Amino acid sequence: MIATKSRSDLKQNREKNLREMEEMSLREVSLDIKNLTKIYPTPKGEYVVLEDLNLRVREGEFISIIGHSGCGKTTLLTMIAGLNEITGGQILLNEFPITGPGPDRGVIFQSPSLFPWMTALENVLLGVRQVFPGGSKKEQQDICKYYLSKVGLEDSFFKKASDLSQGMQQRVGIARAFALKPKILLLDEPFGMLDSLTRGELQDVLLDVWNREKITAVQITHDVDEAIFLADRVIMMTSGPKAQVGDILKIEFDRPRDRKQILEHVDYYKYREYLIDFLEH
Ligand SMILES: Nc1ncnc2c1ncn2[C@@H]1O[C@H](COP(=O)(O)OP(=O)(O)O)[C@@H](O)[C@H]1O
Ligand SMILES: [Mg+2]
Repeated sequence: MIATKSRSDLKQNREKNLREMEEMSLREVSLDIKNLTKIYPTPKGEYVVLEDLNLRVREGEFISIIGHSGCGKTTLLTMIAGLNEITGGQILLNEFPITGPGPDRGVIFQSPSLFPWMTALENVLLGVRQVFPGGSKKEQQDICKYYLSKVGLEDSFFKKASDLSQGMQQRVGIARAFALKPKILLLDEPFGMLDSLTRGELQDVLLDVWNREKITAVQITHDVDEAIFLADRVIMMTSGPKAQVGDILKIEFDRPRDRKQILEHVDYYKYREYLIDFLEH
């Protein structure tokens, strides 16, 4: 583990971290967001949610984005997903501009929108069949079963989605996202609806599967503890309108991470205080 950081150390790192992001070599960058602007038309005129937002994410990196409610986090994520039109600027994924939705991006939202009458397995299969159309039925099923097992649903392959608890449904959502082998995972407050015990369990499940696959991941959360536990860097968004990246905090805990060890680490509280301080000012 790392040497203890003082708060002023972390503050001084702000410029350094922002500069480091600008200077990342394009070869290591997976997601490259350049001068991204989003304007929503409203009855009262144009509302500029994001203006000239820049963000680079490394291949295999896990970042968390925090910011006040309404600052434009979901707007940002849905634009990366290709579900929301870009007003200005560009989003590149592995150097290709995003122009619409695609299977190279796995999306996990707050509620996993499963087909309630289908089993857990069928729900995952639905996507896998589209992404691996050449695979045999057995191969496709094996992929689904592998990921369902990894999220702790080895006994629930054949349960109907409507018979699963909210937490179990979200596990199916995680399995489905990974089974499609996307280049990047996009998560918008995926555990926001769950009670805190289930939320902690699913954070562990997510990290566990992620540790094996190391897919680039961008997660939005308003939970500071979740952001620290999961991320390599926490991106702090300024409050809107015209939101941008305000600050970046590197989380230098080793991986794989152990919740108990992290909670006992002095730096954890420094990180936490720093993030809360940003949100409060
Ligand atoms: N389709 C839309 N039309 C107009 N305004 C919108 C639309 N979607 C979101 N907004 C506004 O844009 C801002 C950012 O919303 P959102 O991205 O959902 O924020 P967050 O996810 O950070 O809470 C909010 O003020 C919201 O009211
Ligand atoms: Mg949101």
